[in-house]
Amino acid sequence: MTLPHIAILSASVRTGRNSHRAALFLRNLIVEKNLATAEIIDLNEYQFPLFHERLMYQDDPLPALLDYSRKIKEADGVVIVTPEYNGGYPASLKNAIDVLYPEWQKKPVAISTCSDGDFGGNQLITSIQFVLWKMHVLTVPAMFPNPHVDKAYDEQGVPSDKEGTEKRAMYFLKELLWCIEAGQLMKKK
Ligand SMILES: Cc1cc2nc3c(=O)[nH]c(=O)nc-3n(C[C@H](O)[C@H](O)[C@H](O)COP(=O)(O)O)c2cc1C
Repeated sequence: MTLPHIAILSASVRTGRNSHRAALFLRNLIVEKNLATAEIIDLNEYQFPLFHERLMYQDDPLPALLDYSRKIKEADGVVIVTPEYNGGYPASLKNAIDVLYPEWQKKPVAISTCSDGDFGGNQLITSIQFVLWKMHVLTVPAMFPNPHVDKAYDEQGVPSDKEGTEKRAMYFLKELLWCIEAGQLMKKK
């Protein structure tokens, strides 16, 4: 059986960011548990400019943008790991979502939020869900909030509460895997 491929979109480009720790954790867990193949798409590595037009209408797109587009298109499912900034999600992520369109359509996407406060970024869920819904994304109805993300993981993404964090993450990832499988069954019909 071929494993599905999950892309983990790490959205923070802030100097000294901490939400990337959750992205590392999820990537490592997916691989360790043999749930899927996994890779991190790191917006901080891409350092995208603010896009003036969607990729499909650009005449001479950046190679990095084509690479990003291909990775989203080829992934069977995507986990977005995003910090909460003032109750919303960062401009880096909106820029990266809006520049694509066909790549997102019918893509199973699960959202993991992060903050350094008690609520783990969950205030941004409704705003991002609405944007993704408008783009015909299959958003997964499970959450993986990460409160106090700076203390919940070390810099390599090793959780301080291994058992509890893995239990919550497995529930979240299994929901995503269910949606991936359901989508694949529908395509075969
Ligand atoms: C512009 C900005 C706004 C923020 N707003 C919030 C907020 O509304 N609620 C919250 O709990 N944390 C907020 N934070 C703190 C982030 O949750 C914290 O930096 C966390 O580590 C996740 O972001 P990071 O990956 O960029 O580090 C904010 C941080 C920044 C830079």
